[in-house]
Formats: sequence, C-alpha cells, structure tokens
Amino acid sequence: MIQTSLQSLSGKRIVLGIGGGIAAYKCADLSRRLIERGAQIRVVMTHAAKKFITPLTMQAVSGHPVLKSLLDLGAETAMDHIEIAKWADFVLLAPATADLIARIAAGMGNDLLTTIYLATDAPVAFAPGMNQQMYRAIATQENIATLSRRGHPIWGPASGKQACGDIGIGRMLEPLQLVALIENYFIDTDLSGLSLLITAGPTREAIDPVRYLSNHSSGKMGYAIAEAASKRGARVTLVSGPVNLPTPANVNRINVQSAEEMHVVVQQHAGVHQIFVACAAVADFKPATMANQKMKKKDGHDEITLSLTKNPDILASVAAMTDNRPFTVGFAAETQDVEQYARDKLAKKNLNLICANDVSQQEQGCDSDQNTLHLYWPNGDKILPLASKVNIGHQLVGEIVLLFHGDK
Ligand code: PMT
Repeated sequence: MIQTSLQSLSGKRIVLGIGGGIAAYKCADLSRRLIERGAQIRVVMTHAAKKFITPLTMQAVSGHPVLKSLLDLGAETAMDHIEIAKWADFVLLAPATADLIARIAAGMGNDLLTTIYLATDAPVAFAPGMNQQMYRAIATQENIATLSRRGHPIWGPASGKQACGDIGIGRMLEPLQLVALIENYFIDTDLSGLSLLITAGPTREAIDPVRYLSNHSSGKMGYAIAEAASKRGARVTLVSGPVNLPTPANVNRINVQSAEEMHVVVQQHAGVHQIFVACAAVADFKPATMANQKMKKKDGHDEITLSLTKNPDILASVAAMTDNRPFTVGFAAETQDVEQYARDKLAKKNLNLICANDVSQQEQGCDSDQNTLHLYWPNGDKILPLASKVNIGHQLVGEIVLLFHGDK
C-alpha cells in the first residue's frame, strides 16, 4: 500500500534560473514547493544572485550542486550549459531582473543562464522582480514586450511595498503563485486525445409527481473529476443527476433525473469514450410503480407500503460490454468493511479500478468538500489521503491515466 501526496509535477525537470534581485530569497521556498510536488530541480544562479542568496542554501534545498558559471571546469557533478538546456522540461527565471531581461531580449550569451536560454527548446517563463521605477522604464517595457512576442509567459509582477521602500508594481509573485502557474502550464493539454464519460450526483426515483427517493450526493466529487480531466485537455461528457453545481468549463453535461435515464444516456455514449468513471450515487431501487397523481393520506392509515424494484446496474452493464468497452472505473460508497466490499465489487463487476469511499465519516463522502479514497485495481492499491475534492479529482485523474496507459 502506497501513501501519496499531491504530485502534480511528478517527474517534471525544472531549471530555476535566479537573477540578482532581493526577491531571490524567495527561491529557497519556491524550490521546496516544486520538489514537494514531485519536480526535479536544477538551480542556476547569476553572479549577482549569489549576493542575495547563497549557493549553499540553494544546493541544500534543491539537493543538487548549484550551477553558477559558464566555465566551471572544477564542477565534475555539474552539467554544462548544453546538457542542462536539453535536460529541462521547463525553465523559470525568477526573479527576472531588468538586467537579465535586457540581456535575454538582446540575445546575449554572456553567462550560464543566458546561454541556457539560447540553447534550450523547453518553454521559458519569466517572473519579473525589480524596483517599480525600473519596471516602468521604457527600456524594460520594450524588452518585456520582446519576450512576450517570442511567446514567453510573463508571470507578474505584483504591486505593493517594495524592499527599497517604494510602493508600486515590481514585486515578484509569491512562490505558491508561481507553482500554481507552472502546474497550470503542465496540466493544460497533456490529456488531449483522451475521452472520459463520467456520472455524478444522485438519481431521483419518482414515487408520485411531487415525491421521490434519493440520497445525499451533491455531485461535487464527480464534477471535480470532470473538471480535472477537462483542464488537462481531455474530452469529457458528464452525465449528471440533479445537483446545484455549475458545469465545469469545456465539459459536455447531460442532465438526467432517474437511474433509468442515466442508464440510457450512458449506454448511448460509453462505446465512444475511452474511460468510464461511475461516480454517481445511483439508487439501487425505484418504486415499482409511479402514481399518476399526488398520493393522498387516508384516514385511519398510519402506514404506507412502497413496493421497490431493482434499477439497472449502469456500471456493471458498461463493464460487461464486449465491443468498444471503455476502461471502467467504479466507486464503492461503504460504511463498513470498506476494503472487502470494494474488492468484491472490483472482481464481481470486472472493473479496471474501484475507488473505495468510506462514507461513514461526516467530513468525507456525500456532500462534504473533502474526501479520501482508497483505490484498488487487480494488482495494486493506493490511498489518496484526506484533501479537497478538487485535489482528489486531480490525483484520481492522474492515477486513472497511468493505469489506462499500463504504466502501473
Ligand atoms: O456527490 P458527492 O456529494 O461529492 O459524494 C461523492 C460520493 C460519495 C457519492 C462518491 O464519491 C461515491 O462514492 N459514489 C458512488 C456511490 C454509490 O452509489 O456507491 P455504490 O457502492 O452503491 O455503487 C457502486 C458503484 O456502482 C458506483 O460506481 C455506482 O455509481 C455504480 N452503480 C450503482 C448502482 C446502480 N444501479 N448503477 C451503478 O452504476
């Protein structure tokens, strides 16, 4: 059993190029945050950067020797500028000082960082950080415009009080803001070409025209999965029971009420999606008959008997498809013997993956903002510890994609 934390940048190779500005001190925290998310970091510092934060500090937080000089023949473990330019998946220059921006805009290669810029074909983003007057200078603005025209993301700067006492625009963005921008950069489109069909929310099983049987599912978990997959570029169809949530961007949402309706829509779409995720809390039973008129209380009758009949098992019917069967992921909402029931469902329904959701705790499961899942697949398992449903959605999509591609 593996414990995990959010590894949104797992395996990503990031060169952090530090310029000589006071905000360089934030780069220690920035490195730590990137590493926490699974990134591999190599730090390159300009000569001036070393005056603001020591290479020793950056070596300690990044776990690797800091690269400082173009002609550092003594550094056996260090890569040269061509090697590191090829190694990088992404380069972030932070703080990008007026001087660094000017030298790069002019195409100079007079230190290690500028030569890496010239030699890499990885995306390079700039996080400007400098005095507000220097930032507003026409020369700096023209240089930034040049970088923008070349297609480089320019992240920030922010406004506020500056180290020199000035107030204005020029503060480098905070480490967590930069991390979020890098995460967004990587999650943009890596799942384009993949299609997911997801069910979410409760179903309503009509008793009469005004009453129904249902459950407490809010749809938050299923919507978070849909949003996470869509944000990464996947084509997503969301078959939703009645919920009070906005449709995530770029998601094709089909509204249904009952299990029967959900079954019909899923049958229509399952064969043209590569992955099916059954997150909906589908009612197992429905009233055997629906009264045409509102049922009335009858004098002298203190009890009423409802006869229930079984709904179709949507998940099982998809898992049993023989043509164009999608990779099939189920959920198991349980209040006891969670692992046993989940493993039984995995085997009985012939699923590729099941997400066991212990719904006996109030802070997780139905209608909560947080969740924890225990994933089981035929030859492994993994816990996604308590986190927001948005976060769990991202992690789960990551795990599903790895299993789908046979990488686990
Ligand atoms: O919507 P939220 O408030 O965010 O809450 C999320 C959740 C708790 C509803 C969700 O995480 C969850 O656990 N969903 C599955 C709920 C459920 O119905 O579990 P189950 O163990 O009864 O069903 C097993 C699986 O079969 C599920 O994938 C379910 O979608 C599917 N099923 C069940 C019955 C049925 N007739 N058809 C089905 O497809």
